Amino acid sequence: MLKQGEPWPNDGNWYLADYQHEFITAQDDVVLGIMGRGSGKSMMAGITIAKHLKEGASGMLLAPTFEACDVTLNVVCEVLEASKTKYRHQRSKHYIEVKKTGSRLYYRPTESDKGIRGKTDLSFLVVDEAALCKRERYLEALGCLRGKIKFRRIYLITTPKGRGNWVYEEAMKPNARLIIRKTTDSPFLDAGFYETLESMYSGDFLDQEVNAAWIDINACLLYNESDYDKMSLGNAMHKTGKIN
Ligand SMILES: Nc1ncnc2c1ncn2[C@@H]1O[C@H](COP(=O)(O)OP(=O)(O)OP(=O)(O)O)[C@@H](O)[C@H]1O
Ligand SMILES: [Mg+2]
Repeated sequence: MLKQGEPWPNDGNWYLADYQHEFITAQDDVVLGIMGRGSGKSMMAGITIAKHLKEGASGMLLAPTFEACDVTLNVVCEVLEASKTKYRHQRSKHYIEVKKTGSRLYYRPTESDKGIRGKTDLSFLVVDEAALCKRERYLEALGCLRGKIKFRRIYLITTPKGRGNWVYEEAMKPNARLIIRKTTDSPFLDAGFYETLESMYSGDFLDQEVNAAWIDINACLLYNESDYDKMSLGNAMHKTGKIN
């Protein structure tokens, strides 16, 4: 595991939190990062994408809006530049292409129903703010993971929005690798950030946004990491974050 100040190989001076490292290096078909606000999810998504692009794999980034896509895309570009990887950004067509490998990242907002179908040869799909994305667009994008691909991997990254949300269903599937962390697990945030959230949020909403708990706000249902032991899912999943 990388220590603070130790550079992430070939990606500039990136120190990764243990859970970011676990996420980025996961080899599972479906990897879910269920984490509190500000825990470094978009950073993790961007570094994951840059790694695959440099390996020569193409993929797609989904986020609720173009503005949300930009947050993750900025990290991708920053990492590529830090590692002196040349790329061109086709802004009108909404993709970036790494010159050496020819691999592309298409970025699409799920608020639009355009530009997802028809893409092929994609090895990975990254969905940032997944719980706020439309499931229909996600399902459309899944159909692009085909053709001449190097591997097939799906990454869902989000602060949870209850068990009624589609991401919960994905997280419960047997092939999913689940990594759950709280905002307070982040080594990058000052204590003031948490205190601000704590003063502004309360109760179930605070638990959802900071502790990454599965809460159906309206139904007042609570299901968080500490409940895993008590429930039938059992110890193995709690310890490894993986559903067997
Ligand atoms: N590996 C890292 N190295 C340095 N800083 C980091 C790292 N990961 C995250 N950060 C910093 O932590 C802060 C939050 O990161 P980020 O925006 O990725 O979190 P997030 O979980 O996506 O937030 P939100 O819940 O608002 O979407 C940012 O200031 C970011 O620069
Ligand atoms: Mg984010």
